[in-house]
Amino acid sequence: MKLIQSIEEMQNLPSLNTPRVLVPTMGALHKGHSELIKKAREIASDKGIVIVSVFANPTQFDRQQDFDSYPKSLEKDLTVCETAGADFVFHPAANEMYHEERSISVNESALSRSLCGATRPGHFDGVCIVCTKFFNITKASHAVFGQKDFQQLAIIRRLVRDLNIAIKIIGAETVREPSGLAMSSRNLNLTSKNKEYAPSLFLSLNMAKQENAYGVNDSQTLKALVSNHLHSLPVEVKIDYLEIVDVETLAPVKNTQDNPSVIAIAAFFGDVRLIDNLPLS
Ligand code: PAF
Repeated sequence: MKLIQSIEEMQNLPSLNTPRVLVPTMGALHKGHSELIKKAREIASDKGIVIVSVFANPTQFDRQQDFDSYPKSLEKDLTVCETAGADFVFHPAANEMYHEERSISVNESALSRSLCGATRPGHFDGVCIVCTKFFNITKASHAVFGQKDFQQLAIIRRLVRDLNIAIKIIGAETVREPSGLAMSSRNLNLTSKNKEYAPSLFLSLNMAKQENAYGVNDSQTLKALVSNHLHSLPVEVKIDYLEIVDVETLAPVKNTQDNPSVIAIAAFFGDVRLIDNLPLS
């Protein structure tokens, strides 16, 4: 496996090896990322190449303090990448990625307004610009994103559609701890009591999914089921959002029979904000 830090070197990789599969990350890699890289390896097979980008993207942080405190662990990340089957790790410096006089931006004006975007103005524009750059720099034929960040995935699909970028976007299934809790570097910040009850996020979404499969299609009823369950726990859970939305447009859905829908939640366990989602039938 090779570490590449310069854009020029990355752009000049011989284009013979296809498929060329990219896994964009911000580093601090955990088992969830390692599964994304393994998925990329499967798609690339032994003929193609797997590139993992490790770049804490400053333009997607709305608070400088969050950017400064974002965990950095390059040595460990390189081991995770190599073990999971990456061929190249692209790790540019911020001033290599962003010209100091840059004046072009990418603005998403619909899908990024709700859910996680409602409280993070500009975040998804930052994600869009950095991913556009990665797609151009790596000349990837495929890119793998986790379904856990399903709003991000929907926005990336929209980016590729609207800007006619020749790349196939693959959504990889959410990796979960045995308890059902979606893997996230934030899980480490949960207190032991909150960690005990945090899997209820997934369990409650599953309850809604099951009711939906039994024929309950009204979104209000399904959402009430989830929020009642979470509010009955012996720990305090603050729901940031709980929505049933169209998988492609992210518009709220009143009746799940009308659109292919997904139920999505963000909730605070203590001061740790966790997200999860499940597609409904
Ligand atoms: O999901 C992430 O880690 C980031 O948003 C991404 C896609 C790597 C862009 O910086």
